[in-house]
Amino acid sequence: MFNDPLFFNKLAAAIIGAALIAMTAAFITSFVYQPKMLEKHAYSIDGGTAIANIPKGTPIPVGPETIMPLLAKASVSSGQKVAKKCTACHTFAKGGKNRIGPNLWQTIGKRQAVAAGYGYSSAFKKLKGNWTYAELNKFLWKPKKYVKGTKMSFVGLKKAKDRASLIAYMRSLSDNPQPLP
Ligand code: HEC
Repeated sequence: MFNDPLFFNKLAAAIIGAALIAMTAAFITSFVYQPKMLEKHAYSIDGGTAIANIPKGTPIPVGPETIMPLLAKASVSSGQKVAKKCTACHTFAKGGKNRIGPNLWQTIGKRQAVAAGYGYSSAFKKLKGNWTYAELNKFLWKPKKYVKGTKMSFVGLKKAKDRASLIAYMRSLSDNPQPLP
């Protein structure tokens, strides 16, 4: 074929032809599917405030929404339903066994990582605080963010309402429930 004196001309013609077809196709598609600019921001923060309405310079929240205002009204029975996500690994009853995770009777107000007979990860053993409402809220939002290296494989509860009802349920699991905040 290299003997063909017109080989390079033909090759060039083929390339240009292909490019033309591609360009025409792109041109036509841009008419068929006219991309529209979104009129509103596609993302909004829980509660429906559009990002555009937040004043400039407002720090972007890096932690979970607080649950304090929700706790007093939170439903213990909905919390018990949310807790089904935990029962694959935890028992909640008084005197319940440690399973994959420690028993969770009377968690609120208790020291972190002190369940008797449970082998915590080394990351968890470093925790020295108490499970206050606020700490539990942060932990349950994103366990792996709260304790880097934890062996609790649970993504977390995104919805403040779910965390509030679950924490209200956990509060009730005590001989002497902690006062509400
Ligand atoms: C896949 C298993 C698994 C699931 C699901 C799970 N956990 Fe855990 N959880 C663990 C493990 C394992 C630990 C111990 C973590 C460590 O040592 O790093 C733990 C630790 C905890 C602790 C700390 C207890 C202490 O003694 O300080 C709390 C509180 C807790 N989990 C609550 C929950 C709640 C509430 C849910 C449900 C929303 C849940 N977990 C879902 C496995 C799980």
